[in-house]
Amino acid sequence: MTGTDTQTHKVAVIGGDGIGPEVTAVALDVVRAAGVDVATTDYDLGGARYLRDGEILSDETLNSLRAFDAILLGAVGTPDVPPGVIERGLLLKMRFELDLYVNQRPFVGTAPGHSHPHDFVVIRENTEGPYVGEGGVLRRGTPHEVATQGSVNTRMGVERCIRYAFELASTRDRKHVTLVHKTNVLTFAGNLWERTFNEVAAEYPQVGTAYNHVDAACIYFVQDPHRYDVIVTDNLFGDILTDLGGAVSGGIGLASSANLNPARTGPSMFEPVHGSAPDIVGTGKANPTAAILSAALMLDFLGESAAADRIRTACAEPVSGSTTEIGRAIAARISV
Ligand code: IPM
Ligand code: MN
Repeated sequence: MTGTDTQTHKVAVIGGDGIGPEVTAVALDVVRAAGVDVATTDYDLGGARYLRDGEILSDETLNSLRAFDAILLGAVGTPDVPPGVIERGLLLKMRFELDLYVNQRPFVGTAPGHSHPHDFVVIRENTEGPYVGEGGVLRRGTPHEVATQGSVNTRMGVERCIRYAFELASTRDRKHVTLVHKTNVLTFAGNLWERTFNEVAAEYPQVGTAYNHVDAACIYFVQDPHRYDVIVTDNLFGDILTDLGGAVSGGIGLASSANLNPARTGPSMFEPVHGSAPDIVGTGKANPTAAILSAALMLDFLGESAAADRIRTACAEPVSGSTTEIGRAIAARISV
């Protein structure tokens, strides 16, 4: 159907917790309906697994993931596990250890109060910033408690992320990159980002550039999202901005995400931006579209862009119904 050789892609599937397994199963059905051959291996990981036998993501399990072409993840986290345990031990461990240094989150939608759709993509640095877990606590529980939380920014880490943003922008119609940071307050990290951005920009004369402070970018996301094409930003700003991006682009139920190792020294990981939503698990209320669109990003990365485009086209028309009904309707639009 794709007109190219059919290739079997080896995909590790981490359905995870809550609605994760439901939306992931639907996403895989849609991938297969698009004619892509995937050989899947299920990994039982997440909060529920941790509560059962203590495994979060052992080095052995992590190493076994390296053999796959891609990892498809639903959502992880359950209210019974304290915050941070699964996030750091599973999700961030994969991002760091597999060197998934770009988090790519596309946003296509019509923001409230606007008459036509915007189309932009956030490139979030995914292995540094405040996410590295540098810092500590002194005198815990006393009135003199001190907590520090460092932000690590390396020239190499910042540059490879910015370079990816410029490469991506070069392939897009508008060819424009906006750096988002807070250079007026975070002067050390901000200056590294700004200098690196300007130096890389000089190598891409065909790509236009802009800079926004992150607080101003929050206003523009709502009031003037059409100004953006590609945005590049640090890990924490990117985390916060992409929830806002979801909110102005039809809701978090549509927001997809790719955690990429563009150097391809290992598998990349694809996951919806939304969480495990334990309150609606098993009700059929979960919208599988974000997971389906994340699977489409996986297909792009696996060289199956024609199938990925067909999936995106099928998702563009709204469908209502239960999780599986939405999946079936989208699959039916693609199947030939
Ligand atoms: C995301 C999530 C994660 C993040 C959490 C679950 C650790 O919010 O992918 O945006 O902060 O990166
Ligand atoms: Mn987030």
